[in-house]
Amino acid sequence: MDWLNGELQRKFAAARDKPWTLAYASMNEDQLCSGPLKVEGSLPRDLCGTFYRNGPARHERADGRYAHKWDGDGMIQAFALRDGTVSHRARYVATSKYRKESAAGRFEFSAYGSAVGCQSELTTDIDAMNAANIGVCAHGDQLLALWEPGSAYALDLDTLETLGLKQWSAPLPLRPFSAHPKVEPDGRLWNFGCDPVASVLSVYAVSATGVVEQQRRFDIPRLPPVHDFAVTRHHLVFVLPPLELAVERLEAGRPFGASIVWTPGRPARVLVIDKRSWALRWYELPPAVFSHIGNAWEDDDGVIRFDCMSGHDAQWALHGWSLMRGLYSHVRGASLTWIELRPDGSCAARMDASLETEFPVVEPRVVGQRYEALLCISRSPDRPADLPGWDRLTAVDVEDGSAQSYHFGNDWMVEEHVYAPRPGKPDAKARWVVGTALNLRTAKTALSVFDAGAIQEGPVAQVVLPYALPVGLHGTFRAGS
Ligand SMILES: [Fe+2]
Repeated sequence: MDWLNGELQRKFAAARDKPWTLAYASMNEDQLCSGPLKVEGSLPRDLCGTFYRNGPARHERADGRYAHKWDGDGMIQAFALRDGTVSHRARYVATSKYRKESAAGRFEFSAYGSAVGCQSELTTDIDAMNAANIGVCAHGDQLLALWEPGSAYALDLDTLETLGLKQWSAPLPLRPFSAHPKVEPDGRLWNFGCDPVASVLSVYAVSATGVVEQQRRFDIPRLPPVHDFAVTRHHLVFVLPPLELAVERLEAGRPFGASIVWTPGRPARVLVIDKRSWALRWYELPPAVFSHIGNAWEDDDGVIRFDCMSGHDAQWALHGWSLMRGLYSHVRGASLTWIELRPDGSCAARMDASLETEFPVVEPRVVGQRYEALLCISRSPDRPADLPGWDRLTAVDVEDGSAQSYHFGNDWMVEEHVYAPRPGKPDAKARWVVGTALNLRTAKTALSVFDAGAIQEGPVAQVVLPYALPVGLHGTFRAGS
């Protein structure tokens, strides 16, 4: 447990001459507020709304430094864009864990990759460990800060004040509530909860007004941890990689993340659940590691097509620990992969090895429907092997597979970017893309705005914060003032 006794802090401090370690430094301010920011370039007048991002940020307390990059408490970033101006604010999600540890002045709860003694998901109320640090979703009149094994936290959209665990009107808690809900164009939110200890997959549907319409549980044999899923007009799609949770490791006090075992001899499984009948259908794919899914859709013949990020080398998953020690040596990550599931039970997967990519995103208006473009961040093949992260924003033409890409450069670590829908026109094609990136040379985070149709031409506007933010995870754009 070198993460609790100062040893990990010392190792990380010794590596601080590497500029990229800035991405994993702890944010020890409870709140940030920039005031109006100087805009470089021209901020589009029709770009109006708030870009939110969540991510682990409190990596250290007292002598403790978390062992894994996904452990830190969630901090919500909010960039308000309107009338040609931008301002930034950030605030930690005031989870039960965060409040107790702030009062104690030290870490007291286990996290994904850091265990406190034998305290684990097997022995602790899961929401006592909830870090609310992976995703964020604006639904109804609230912002939801999302973890994976626990409940959603509700926040005020404007002040980012934490309102508490999200209270749903439903027979049972909507828990676990994954960090990757999918919101269909009519506002209906679909999400799932994966409990690999009990081997139970839960599915939820919530209307645009917050009414819980569906809450179903499925016993799934050998259910591995599942991070993401997809929706189509009639189906829910889950990719189950050949992983399993070694419960005996959890019982022995290993952290959850170190209790997941790669079983490469087994195929990957794809589970398709019919939203009308709740019937289950299975497919098998060659063994691979699967992470995010951008989108899925089905044609009139019932063929389901979707993209996902997959790779053949599970070693990349170990970077989460080494980065927190200030160590990095690149191992090829995920590639964009196209998957087709046919009604006759056959399927096909085609990996585009030309792109090393992650964080796939589509326009909100096409979720679950046929889509033309997929936005992701990618890594240049010649990025130095001792430099982590992605350095490109890439838009892929889904029809022909061609890509247009903007290279930020080796001084940058690029984060997920998202489409910004037009206020009051959710069905209109989004014209702008927004996202953040950490500039390692200036030690500052910048927000960039791109023309969605001309990514390769670079940002039309950029705003530089007066500070650096820890590299975060998932974001969303809420249109309107
Ligand atoms: Fe994710």
